[in-house]
Amino acid sequence: SLVPVITIDGPSASGKGTVAQRVAAALGFHYLDSGALYRLTALAAERRGVVWRDELAVAKLAGELDAVFDGAAVLLDGNNVTEAIRSEGIGIGASVVAALPAVRSALLARQHAFAEAPGLVADGRDMGSVVFPDARLKVFLTASAQARAERRHKQLLAAGEPADLAAIAADLESRDARDRARKVAPLQQWADALLLDTTDMGVDEAVEQVLSWWKNAL
Ligand code: C5P
Repeated sequence: SLVPVITIDGPSASGKGTVAQRVAAALGFHYLDSGALYRLTALAAERRGVVWRDELAVAKLAGELDAVFDGAAVLLDGNNVTEAIRSEGIGIGASVVAALPAVRSALLARQHAFAEAPGLVADGRDMGSVVFPDARLKVFLTASAQARAERRHKQLLAAGEPADLAAIAADLESRDARDRARKVAPLQQWADALLLDTTDMGVDEAVEQVLSWWKNAL
């Protein structure tokens, strides 16, 4: 496509969402949080009593998702679910529905629609490999398992949610294992993506790195 796209893929709690949002704001680009679509699908299924493994029923829900992104707020069927989709339980549900090929296809067109002028920053697991394979800059953003568990732990505590570091580390590990092992669009650092390891890096530094790669890519 002619619209410039930057993809930022990586494992859970790596900080890619924060970095992607900051890069988008710095460039005046649109932002796609693709994980939110899988989270919304898992939540919609739960609220309708559809089990996460029912591929056809969940794919139908995904295709008909009444989702609105309004700044930082996310609405599902007109209800504010900004916080509800961030729970660890829905994160696990998202990784279950995300392993179903029909669900991924059902969400494809909706993701492509985010690529509008003047540009897009998209974060997820398969942004550079499947959804926007022609992206001009592809980043694989990661951090050590320990650093990611600590970041998610801090995030949950700040949101006033009960959080146990060991349980979070175990959740992240099983979610990432499912994301890496699945047959469709597995989480992987592909050869055309630049590696950004943020284990010992603050958000500012990570944002600067992506912006400097972007300048060099132009
Ligand atoms: O990024 P986030 O943690 O919100 O994503 C939730 C889940 O959605 C991931 O664990 C992954 O299984 C799935 N996902 C995906 N492809 C994407 C984005 C998220 O499979 N592009």
